[in-house]
Amino acid sequence: MTGSAPDDGAPQGGRYGETVFPPGQAGEAERVDFGALAYDDITMTRLRALGVGPGWRCLDLGAGTGTVSRRLLNEARVDSVLAVDRDVRFLAERPAPGLDVLETDITAPGFAPGRFRLIHARFVLMHLPEHERLITTLAELLEPGGVLVLSDAVDLTSDRTPATPYTTTMRAMWHGLKATIGTDVSWVPSYPHLLRGAGLVPVAAEIHVPPLTPGSPISRFWADTWERSRAAMLATGLVDDAAIGTALQYLESDDCAALSAGMLTAWGWKK
Ligand SMILES: C[S@@+](CC[C@H](N)C(=O)[O-])C[C@H]1O[C@@H](n2cnc3c(N)ncnc32)[C@H](O)[C@@H]1O
Repeated sequence: MTGSAPDDGAPQGGRYGETVFPPGQAGEAERVDFGALAYDDITMTRLRALGVGPGWRCLDLGAGTGTVSRRLLNEARVDSVLAVDRDVRFLAERPAPGLDVLETDITAPGFAPGRFRLIHARFVLMHLPEHERLITTLAELLEPGGVLVLSDAVDLTSDRTPATPYTTTMRAMWHGLKATIGTDVSWVPSYPHLLRGAGLVPVAAEIHVPPLTPGSPISRFWADTWERSRAAMLATGLVDDAAIGTALQYLESDDCAALSAGMLTAWGWKK
């Protein structure tokens, strides 16, 4: 393999859901659900610990297949959830009492669907170059006493990480997604600082790393994500088809000895 990852620059492939991860592609809901299976319990434990429950009006941004939205209603017994996505086909397929659905782009000027006690977005802002502006906007949409809870991926590889097929392929994925749709996880560890900068206080954060074991939801999520972003990964020059194939086999074997990307969840309160 030769070549190097492209430098930072304008994304070449439109936005999330256009050239990469289009919702109309067979199996996309299942891919999102593998991520949900890996992380929903962690998300719900955090939301419950923050006090989310009866009486709360909630906004779930980039709600995907709506697993968190529905669990907020069915398990946390919140009053209502407005689930927003730029494509709501998966939400429409799985309605629930108390679940309102809005199809819109959250980066659109004037996006202001109301005031909420909980505003939640998971694996959404990392795909949006406007994330800093959005954090400010979302903080303004909180009721006094409300909480903004944002989760995104953190890449835990470093220059010292052993060069396994997994590491090389993950690196190609992050570079490829950045070049095509602008996905950027490098700023995610700055979340507490960004929330504080948006006027929220106090703020805090935690990271969860699901174990990469063969057949686990997170392993299947990465395998599926690599397949769907294969063209972007190949375009980096960091991997070829054979290298991706080796990484897929590695992920499903007992030889796999790697750390998944983690999920950083940060939250901040509106006084
Ligand atoms: C990786 S999925 C995460 C889904 C869900 N939050 C979860 O964690 O299971 C990202 C979701 O954000 C939505 N999305 C991406 N950009 C968006 C935008 N600008 N406005 C609204 N939704 C967006 C996508 O359509 C997709 O459903």
